[in-house]
Amino acid sequence: MRIDVLTIFPGYFAGPLDTSLVATARARGAVDVRLHDLRDWTTDRHRSVDDAPYGGGAGMVMRGDVLVAAAESVWNDLPPSATVGTAGAPADVGGAPPRYVAGGARPRTVVFTPRGRPLTQALVRELADEDRLVLVCGRYEGIDERVHELVATDEVSLGDYVLMGGEVAAAAMVEAVVRLLPGVLGNAASAAEESFEGGLLEHPLYTRPPELRGRTVPPVLTSGDHAAVAAWRRARAEERTRAVRPDLLDGTGGAGPEEV
Ligand code: ADE
Repeated sequence: MRIDVLTIFPGYFAGPLDTSLVATARARGAVDVRLHDLRDWTTDRHRSVDDAPYGGGAGMVMRGDVLVAAAESVWNDLPPSATVGTAGAPADVGGAPPRYVAGGARPRTVVFTPRGRPLTQALVRELADEDRLVLVCGRYEGIDERVHELVATDEVSLGDYVLMGGEVAAAAMVEAVVRLLPGVLGNAASAAEESFEGGLLEHPLYTRPPELRGRTVPPVLTSGDHAAVAAWRRARAEERTRAVRPDLLDGTGGAGPEEV
């Protein structure tokens, strides 16, 4: 899988991409993550990616021309110079028209926003089946609405709270998707047994030592009775899900409030 990330803070991703299983997956070629600095598509000498909102109001808005040009470059593997300043029309790159254009056919492109659909394991599974993902990180008060219309195939929220930008959400999505790619997790069963995979939160886990500050391990786990262990785990998972995430049991999927 190839994942392109568009951000004004490419350096933010150094830690998440160079650590642990994501780093191993990249080194093995299971995933090719490419970072792009949105300022490479700006046209002014200050390299501005934001401007004041039409109609007034607090804060700044991310410019649509910069984001559309960046998306069209990355979708089509064109250098920034081919698409900067193409706000009014798709880039004329000389020869064949670009394969992907804003508002038309395009690779799966996620724009992160608190108004998006929540990032769930079901969505992660769906995205892990794609050959390509393009992740667009917003900053400031928000993104010009035309980017949502022309660039996004998906609008995704990390949760019902407001972050300073989409980078944390993009890093979370990369990690959740990459761990589902073939060959990334050592033990394939461990992905299937995780929280959410069976529609429930995960059961409690224990390892050595057998006693910790007076707390012992439930005897069933050391009984060697696999059926009893499975039944105990199922019961604890249901109990925990009912207590903290009843929405997962009633089928509403925990969509949360419409607005944040
Ligand atoms: N940008 C700001 N807040 C966000 C959130 N909750 N999810 C995704 N992107 C965001």
